[in-house]
Amino acid sequence: MNNLVNKLEQTQFLSKEEWSALIRGRTPGTADYLFERAREVRHRYYQHDVYIRGLIEFTNYCKNDCYYCGIRRSNRHAHRYRLSKEQILDCCETGYRLGFRTFVLQGGEDGHYTDEMLADIVKTIKSRYTDCAITLSVGERSYESYRLLFEAGADRYLLRHETYDPQHYSKLHPQELTAAHRQQCLRDLKEIGYQVGTGFMVGSPWQTPENLADDMLFLKELNPQMVGIGPFIPHHDTPFADQKAGTLELTLFMLGLIRLMLPKVLLPSTTALGTIAPDGRERGILAGANVVMPNLSPTDVRKDYLLYDNKICTGDEAAECRGCMERRMNSIGYNVVVARGDSLNVDTRP
Ligand code: SAM
Ligand code: FES
Repeated sequence: MNNLVNKLEQTQFLSKEEWSALIRGRTPGTADYLFERAREVRHRYYQHDVYIRGLIEFTNYCKNDCYYCGIRRSNRHAHRYRLSKEQILDCCETGYRLGFRTFVLQGGEDGHYTDEMLADIVKTIKSRYTDCAITLSVGERSYESYRLLFEAGADRYLLRHETYDPQHYSKLHPQELTAAHRQQCLRDLKEIGYQVGTGFMVGSPWQTPENLADDMLFLKELNPQMVGIGPFIPHHDTPFADQKAGTLELTLFMLGLIRLMLPKVLLPSTTALGTIAPDGRERGILAGANVVMPNLSPTDVRKDYLLYDNKICTGDEAAECRGCMERRMNSIGYNVVVARGDSLNVDTRP
C-alpha cells in the first residue's frame, strides 16, 4: 500500500480503483507512513502553524430534516435559539480580543435570517474588524443570495458535500435534498469568488470505500480552499440514533490522504474528532490537519447546538477554549497563530 501513498504524493492523483484499494487495504503501517508524508508536506507550506477560527453557532433552527443531524426540524426535543445581531457582535468582540482573525457564522437553514439581515451582520463585522475574514456556513441558498452576501463582505463559505454518490446521499437525507443541488451550490460559490470549503462525514451509515473514493475524486475536481471532515456520531433523537459512529482511525487516514492530494488545502481537525477521542484533535494535526475551530458561541446556548451526542466544549467559556487549544497544540510541537490564515490553494484554472 505504501506504493500508492508514494504515487499520491508524487502525482496528487489516484484513480477510483486505486483510492478504493488504498482505503480498503489500509493497515496501521500504511497509516504511519501516510501521516509521516502528510506532515512533511504540511510543514513545507504551513510550517508548524495552526490557524484558529472562532465558531459562532448563531441559530439552531433548521428547515431541513437530515437524518443524522441533532438539530433537524423534526427533533421536537431540541431547545431552539437564535442569536441577535448584538449577541453575534459580542462574540466577535470576545474573539477578536482572544486573537481570532476569522469568524465562522454557522447555523441551520433558518429563514428568520433574511439575506438583508445576514448582509447587514456581515457588513458590520467587516467594518469593525478590518483585518478579519468572515466564513459563512448556512447551507444551501440561491445564487443571488450567495452573491449578495459575498458583496456584503463574506470571504469564505463552508458547505460540506456530505457524500458525492447520489444514492448514498439519498439514504442520509429526505428526498427534497439532493447531491446534485448541493454540488451546484458549491460550484456557484466558487464562481462568485468565495474561498470554498467542502467535505464529508467519515463512517456515515452505509458508507463504503467506493463512496469515499468518489468523495476524493470530487474534492480533486472541485479543488476547494478548505476541506472539513469528521466522524459521523449518532444523536439520540434522530433516525440514526442506533447507527455506529465513524472511527478515529479512518478519519485520521482520510485527513492524511487529503493533505497529500491537496497539499496546500486548509484542513481542520474538527470538534467531532475531539469528541470520539480525548486527543482526537491533536492526532488530526499529526495526520496533516492545520486548522482548529474553537467555539465562540455564548455558553448558555452551546449545549443546544447539539449535532451529535457528547459534543465537547459545551460548558466552557471562549477564553478557556482558546487557552486549552493553545496548550494542546503546544504539547505536540505546534503553534496557534494570530492571522487570517488564508488558503495557499489558489485556484488558477480557467
Ligand atoms: N446548515 C449548514 C449546512 O448544512 O451546511 C451548517 C450546519 S450543519 C449542522 C454542519 C455540519 O454538521 C454538516 O455539514 C454535517 O456534516 C455535520 N453534522 C451534522 N450532524 C452530524 C453528526 N451526527 N455527526 C457528525 N457530523 C454531523
Ligand atoms: Fe439543518 Fe442539520 S438538518 S443543520
